[in-house]
Amino acid sequence: MSKEIEDHRILNRSSNEPFSSILEKHVSRRGIMQGGLGVAAMSVLGGFGLAGCSDSDDDDGAQAGELPEKTALALAFESIAGSMTDAVVVPEGYTAQVLIPWGTPLNSMAPDWSADRSMTPEIQANSVGMHHDGMYHFPLSEADASNDFLLALNNEYIDQSALWAPQGGPTGTGTGESRPADEVRTEINAHGVTIVRVQKQSDGTWAHVPNSPYNRRFTSATPMELAGPVRGSEYVVTAYSTDGTMTRGTNNNCASGYTPWGTYLTCEENWPGYFIRDTDRRIDDRRLGISEGRGRYGWETAAGDASETNAEFARFIADPTGATAAEDYRNEPRAFGYIVEIDPYTNTRAVKRTALGRFRHEGCWPGKLVEGQPVVFYSGHDSRNEYIYKFVSDAVWDPADANRAGGNYDRLAIGAKYMDQGTLYVAKFNADGTGEWLPLTPSTRTPDGQTLASALGLAADDQAGIIIHTCDAADLMGATPMDRPEWGAVDPVSGEVYMTLTNNSRRTEEGTDPTYTNGGSDTDELGVGYATAPVNGPNPRANNEGGQVIRWREPSAGETTFEWEVFVFGAAAGDQDNLSGLTELNQFASPDGLWYDERGDGEGILWIQTDNGYEGVTDYTNDQLLAVVPNSVSMSEGDAAVIDPSEQQQLKRFAVGPNGCEVTGIFATPDKTALFINIQHPGNWPADPGAITQPATNAASGDVRPRASTVVIQKADGGQIGV
Ligand code: FEO
Ligand code: CA
Ligand code: CA
Repeated sequence: MSKEIEDHRILNRSSNEPFSSILEKHVSRRGIMQGGLGVAAMSVLGGFGLAGCSDSDDDDGAQAGELPEKTALALAFESIAGSMTDAVVVPEGYTAQVLIPWGTPLNSMAPDWSADRSMTPEIQANSVGMHHDGMYHFPLSEADASNDFLLALNNEYIDQSALWAPQGGPTGTGTGESRPADEVRTEINAHGVTIVRVQKQSDGTWAHVPNSPYNRRFTSATPMELAGPVRGSEYVVTAYSTDGTMTRGTNNNCASGYTPWGTYLTCEENWPGYFIRDTDRRIDDRRLGISEGRGRYGWETAAGDASETNAEFARFIADPTGATAAEDYRNEPRAFGYIVEIDPYTNTRAVKRTALGRFRHEGCWPGKLVEGQPVVFYSGHDSRNEYIYKFVSDAVWDPADANRAGGNYDRLAIGAKYMDQGTLYVAKFNADGTGEWLPLTPSTRTPDGQTLASALGLAADDQAGIIIHTCDAADLMGATPMDRPEWGAVDPVSGEVYMTLTNNSRRTEEGTDPTYTNGGSDTDELGVGYATAPVNGPNPRANNEGGQVIRWREPSAGETTFEWEVFVFGAAAGDQDNLSGLTELNQFASPDGLWYDERGDGEGILWIQTDNGYEGVTDYTNDQLLAVVPNSVSMSEGDAAVIDPSEQQQLKRFAVGPNGCEVTGIFATPDKTALFINIQHPGNWPADPGAITQPATNAASGDVRPRASTVVIQKADGGQIGV
């Protein structure tokens, strides 16, 4: 997501108390984890191990500044300098290649790409979408999993000037003007998800497979199923689906996820901006920020066009205009804000798994998988002072449900088994390094003793209502407001979970009172959230421009307690609050993308991507990709982050993107010889405007029509990435 579409209104206004005097309350986590409380805390938490902790109970263990015992896995590249050019930069000995840029034809319905292509709804529906974000890979066979697979990627939003470059920009964008219907249809088709088969070529480069029967698009107009508690409820009845079982499109798909049974998860983030509602705004409309006036791209202004079919544009207007919900689109926004499951292997509909909550979902990541235990998914709400969530399935994991690569069978039925029934929790972080997951069910008691259903004014068994009002339910339970949760990552061996908290300019000093979006009084009004919240344990810096990565661990995936620490603080090297001691060679801000790259024997690499607007760092480098082996850094000391000033050589800058971009989306092939990332909203890249594949490391000699693209990074000698 670029600054262009971030929603900087503060939407969380809740009555629960944030941690307002954290230092007074704080019990040193060093005390808990290393001292006298350690045994009790570890016993409560089940005695599970602390990865990265080489000295948890030993008097002569590592002092601050001393490195832990060396581990087998080490990063074998030199951290690269910052870069501010129109090219991707990678370490010496590596190559980087452009793959499937926006507009790449998926089939013969779309003509060959050309730099002066005028997009139409039909061409865009048969081409790779715009602004690549989260992605994942789906092998067609285990044997060839590293050379030939389906790539599923999100197309989060659009660059209208690039999309409409041949005609000099979009039209109908002025106040009171209407957008032309075919421009709107084209923009709708540039959003969503792309599924495309890609293969490694005999020369070691990568190419997509045109006309593969697997190639397909999901757009902001594609019919989709609703599943889980909200399906069939009155909340999602529209003129399109009078029984509340269907909707059209997925929108602003930011980070991604995947399931153990071989499906792709795409996550609806800044979707509220596409809808408008001028009258009778409901609790959830206000809490999530459904706007009055004009939508982000004015799609709704095409409503009433002579060519409009089935309210394809009018559905973005959520005002109640009919006698009942079945006669209008008042409930259309309530069909958005979900985790959407896609089977990339079959020609099935996408399914919105509503049990995982309704908010601005950044992404969705499965927890450690254990036979006979529930399947767990973590997700975060990316807005200032919003929350982190976890879903725990009712069904327990059966390894027979694991993906059979390339097989043609009903993966979505398996998805229904694990994702439609379960419990949604929201996170409360305690100042002492512990935390708890608070259940969001109708009968859950709020801290003041009401049931959640009663506190929200819902019927006693209305789980659909809880889901529609997820954020208000979380407010009422006393969840901890965070510094904009972005991506998560799970170490599949230890079960440790990492999450980026990208930044928060509305985080205030210790001891200040929280303020609320309707003016500052501490009321229990629903439909509003924190405008500001004072620092708390995992969000300890006021006016947080650098962001941080946190880590937590749970006794087992289904438990409701956890233990947390800050893993690393982003900052510019010269900052006073450069708490992890970053240097020029690894300074970063606004961590966003994140991936735990398991390398065997309990070892792995944590990859961190940035979407930075903090000038302390943007003055030095474009957005970037960093790497660290978590086991190579010592555990946290007291309030300090895991990565401390003595460990700078362990956190290395691996790649830098071209001017204007953010670096997002990441996975490696199973053999670890190719790392795939995405370059979103570049300013003047890739260099050759007419080519589909080309080196990513070339800079254009003049101005080009920019295209978001996947980039494949490989070692020139064919070896494993990073080591
Ligand atoms: Fe689409 Fe939160 O970034
Ligand atoms: Ca971001
Ligand atoms: Ca993001």
